[in-house]
Amino acid sequence: MSTSYANNPPNLKSHQSHTKTAPITPDLTIISKDMPNTPTESATATHVTRTNAVLNSAVNRDAGTSCTYLTFGGCNYLALAHHPKVVAAAQAALQTFGLSTSASRQTTGNARPHANLEAALADFTNAPAALLLPDGYTANLAALQALKAQGIQHALLDTRAHASLYDAAKLAQMTIHTYNHLDAHHASQILNTLNQPAVILTDAVFTTDGDLAPAQQLVQLLDNQPNQHHLLLDDCHGFAVLGINGRGTANHLNISHPNLIITTTLLKGLGCAGGVVIASSELIESAINTSTAYICTTPASPALAAAGLTALQILQSSPERHQQLQSNITHTRAILNALGITTHHNPTPIFAFTLGTKEDMEAIEQRLLDQHIILPLMHYPNGPAPTYFRLSLNADHTQDHINQLNAALTNALKVQHA
Ligand SMILES: Cc1ncc(COP(=O)(O)O)c(C=O)c1O
Repeated sequence: MSTSYANNPPNLKSHQSHTKTAPITPDLTIISKDMPNTPTESATATHVTRTNAVLNSAVNRDAGTSCTYLTFGGCNYLALAHHPKVVAAAQAALQTFGLSTSASRQTTGNARPHANLEAALADFTNAPAALLLPDGYTANLAALQALKAQGIQHALLDTRAHASLYDAAKLAQMTIHTYNHLDAHHASQILNTLNQPAVILTDAVFTTDGDLAPAQQLVQLLDNQPNQHHLLLDDCHGFAVLGINGRGTANHLNISHPNLIITTTLLKGLGCAGGVVIASSELIESAINTSTAYICTTPASPALAAAGLTALQILQSSPERHQQLQSNITHTRAILNALGITTHHNPTPIFAFTLGTKEDMEAIEQRLLDQHIILPLMHYPNGPAPTYFRLSLNADHTQDHINQLNAALTNALKVQHA
């Protein structure tokens, strides 16, 4: 297993000063080698049922038996993936449109639910326009291809930005520069050395540990500059979670700017699937006319778009979901802190931490599994450490679930220290 990427991405060793070298995409064949990959047989927002692997059945007497676990993994933050109205909206659209439009939107693949969802997303985020893409990964690519078509040559990335942002900048053939993690001052220094417009790229809420980008400082870098810089916030983990009724990180931080671009997935906060670029009408026009990520792909199924629209409506009419999520975040933070685990103080549903060595953490993960609790041990790129626990919460977790985690973790740590 390679554990070196997260702390020291190969392309980022020299990030104290900016680099013009395109970063190397992380080698996921190495990183994902021992990530948990047992297929889930069925799931709710809080529990998954898995069948024990039969591969090693000679030594595993329980092979083939199924077990239900309380899970603190994944990203279905508002627990909308199983909401009966969301499921019903998908089912109704399946009857009307079938499973897929089987064509790109520029040809015959544009369905009414796609257009309705785009209008609703622009309205919800108070933005001029929104464009649906198959997923969050292609949304980042479409946004950067559109910017490149408008003449933006330079991309300036946080060193721990999501890999899809690196890939998008690389595929859009921009010159890539990196600034130190969360360091807006460093970003400003690099911008000052460029004689051309650039786009700053960052996760709004960092995927791996729930940290918030210094978006208020970054957006200020767009003003008082001779060049027309842009800021792209990848809000995959803030959209539907932060801000009024889940309007996202920009709303939470009260920032807006004509050159602010938001991308997100509809998979995490809304529990559906698909990606979206939210931006000025000019940028969206540019994406529609020039981006191969948009022109040469088939959209998310109309059923998913219909489900996404319903999920968006539920977000706005059910503030208690956000209240429950926030209460879960506060409760969990208090529990972790009481166990001596340092946490961030953001209103984000992701906590990342290490507990001893990699071997210690593997033992703790197994002890939790023995108590039927999944707390994923991650080797995901650009995390806070090579190996770390990533605990995520959703609105269907109850106080009782979190207390169960507390008891199991306390128990696992006691064995560790015995
Ligand atoms: C920050 C971030 N950006 C982009 C993506 C890609 O989104 P999608 O899975 O919809 O392609 C993800 C996660 O998968 C993510 O965490």
